[in-house]
Amino acid sequence: MSITVNHEKKQFHLRGKDFSYVFHVTENRYLNHLYYGKVLAEDADLTYRYQKIAVNDFCGQIDGTPVKYTALKPEYSQANYGDFRDPAIFLQDELGAPVVDFRYDSYEIYPEKPLISSGIPSARGGETLAVRLFDPVIHVELILLYTVYEDLNILTRRAEIRNIGEKKVRLQRAMSLSLDFPADNFRVLTLHGNHATECQREISPLVHGQIISGNSRGFSSHQSSPFVALMRAGADEEQGEIFGCNLMYSGSHYECVEQDPVGTVRLIAGIHPLNFSWLLTEGERFETPEAVLCFSDEGLGKMSRSYHDFFRRYVINPAFVEKPRPVVLNSWEGFRFRFDNKMLLDTVDALKGSGIDVFVLDDGWFGARNDDRAGLGDWYVNREKLPGGLKEISDRCREVGLGFGLWIEPEMVNPDSDLYRAHPDWVIRAPGREPVVSRNQCILDFSRRDVLEYIKKQMYEVIRDSGACYIKWDANRHMTENYSSALPAERQGELQHRYMLGVYELAEYLTTSFPDILFEGCSGGGGRFDGAMLHYFPQYWTSDNTDAHDRTMIQYGNSLCYPPCSQSCHVSKVPNQRNGRVTSLRTRTDIACRGILGYEFDVRNMTEEEKKSIPEDIKKYHSIEDLILKGDLYRMKNTFDSNEMCEVLVSKDKSRAYVTYYQCMNTHKTTPDIRINGLDEKRKYQIAELGLTLGGDVLKNAGISLPKCPGDFSTVTLTLTAVE
Ligand code: DGJ
Repeated sequence: MSITVNHEKKQFHLRGKDFSYVFHVTENRYLNHLYYGKVLAEDADLTYRYQKIAVNDFCGQIDGTPVKYTALKPEYSQANYGDFRDPAIFLQDELGAPVVDFRYDSYEIYPEKPLISSGIPSARGGETLAVRLFDPVIHVELILLYTVYEDLNILTRRAEIRNIGEKKVRLQRAMSLSLDFPADNFRVLTLHGNHATECQREISPLVHGQIISGNSRGFSSHQSSPFVALMRAGADEEQGEIFGCNLMYSGSHYECVEQDPVGTVRLIAGIHPLNFSWLLTEGERFETPEAVLCFSDEGLGKMSRSYHDFFRRYVINPAFVEKPRPVVLNSWEGFRFRFDNKMLLDTVDALKGSGIDVFVLDDGWFGARNDDRAGLGDWYVNREKLPGGLKEISDRCREVGLGFGLWIEPEMVNPDSDLYRAHPDWVIRAPGREPVVSRNQCILDFSRRDVLEYIKKQMYEVIRDSGACYIKWDANRHMTENYSSALPAERQGELQHRYMLGVYELAEYLTTSFPDILFEGCSGGGGRFDGAMLHYFPQYWTSDNTDAHDRTMIQYGNSLCYPPCSQSCHVSKVPNQRNGRVTSLRTRTDIACRGILGYEFDVRNMTEEEKKSIPEDIKKYHSIEDLILKGDLYRMKNTFDSNEMCEVLVSKDKSRAYVTYYQCMNTHKTTPDIRINGLDEKRKYQIAELGLTLGGDVLKNAGISLPKCPGDFSTVTLTLTAVE
């Protein structure tokens, strides 16, 4: 049993693999958080931590007993009733009064997790506690849902708010969770970035006041990932306590860590409150996305491995998660929009015998799409470029033993398109103003049923007729204006979230209509790489930046939460199109082999080196593919902290491992030294490349010297096999 309820103590104890999470119901029926950390005995007595809870720190007393407001650790913090920190919920009643006072009512335990009914993807899984709280003045109920994963260090949380009264109420904020910690010397880890520099790790000291990550762009975004971690003093990659919080949501998000004047720390995470409000009329309810909490007592490394197992076991489609993925050649960096039928057919022919499995035709195959200024939204084949249609290309692929893949961008439209000319009101734009364009495109209003149904039909037909076994779903701008012509004034604040529900509905429809097709997500690179998207897309295009050095950082940042099998990583030409850097084919391949390998250049004029190396590289990749799909990742060094990166993927049974070492700048070191974590310390391992057999204990503690790296931006890889 992962959830135990002590009725006498009015205490709920949630126990996962290595953690406990405990809260209780106070005498005046508030939910008060008691503990989150290393696992405690099921009957652990925490009653000494019970406090009477003041609802107001000005009066500082309740039932005549003085209480400090810092004693408040509400499981779901509420505004304007004595707690002056950032609230989880902000709700106004029909008169505009911004006060709620939820008190405990009852609980229920479900053996199977209830899914979110509004269509936000959530993890599959097990035992779930639902606690009902109620505010009898405004007749609104709050359900807090907790799902414990007994096999992992994961606890998910979300909330539902239901109006069971006759009067309207308006939510101005509804977070997925709030979580209070006693005063501690935490540091806060966030992932910031930009287009082509996604997922840059930043670790800041806790300050009095707030550290806020998140954005209101309508997309989880390149700029901030929906993830934050609290690191206790001394915690690092391999040791110390970490509390991770990953929000499974693809729209605007908000993560706030607040330290109050006496040091108490609050974490809240959920949909960004800017551009959000939700009207609840009688009987209506609102469901928040799910937040995935992870506790690690062995640093960031253990946290990441827990998240990886979680996303692989409970989020990514089981039909694909462990299945070898195709090695693709994508046309984008090679051709951009400048291709014709012959170029594509010649490309397909050139791939014969290369080891590449799928040819992907990226942007530019439809409408008047000769550059990014026109044609988006017109989902019919550009016959000037492709007189034989997609069929001729996909048939040729099949003839030479390849699969065919296709790019789509269903959410967007160029103003210079037939679709826009027919329906200028179908885009998100402000009344009486010209729409703001970005990359020359507008966003279709997916909160509108008519728009969504039209695109569903279009996309269904395109995919059905394409002969594709792989689809790349792109989305290349963020949301402005935030006005829908189809929503009444009082519901305009619902647009961003309704839009995202529309995206999820389309993704659900297409992925279930074509269950054998592998869908890869993309948003101008990793601009919407989040846990919710992994529900539909087993892999995601990590970044438009394919430079090997920059990728060591971007892929590291992603690997904090997402498994290597979810990161799509391509080898492209040098000098790199983004930053002009020149790295060797060896290095580009070794870094791309930290995820799902692919290629991205014009293969019609491959160099002799490429012709010879690529088939060999793909063979080698297949020999370690099971480790990329299913292995445990141990990061020993990273390029945020040093001149080197060193990671190892270890099979679950610890019989095999694959090490990637990367050196940025050549140094005076004659030979780099590394220690290898994650091995069985009682077994011996043969290291193929070095002709050595050493104990797992030796490799972990004494380490080994690698052969000297051949210069700047160079790599060494090692293949380890247990011999005893
Ligand atoms: C952005 C993507 O990240 C690229 O890979 C490519 O598909 C372009 N869009 C096409 O417009």
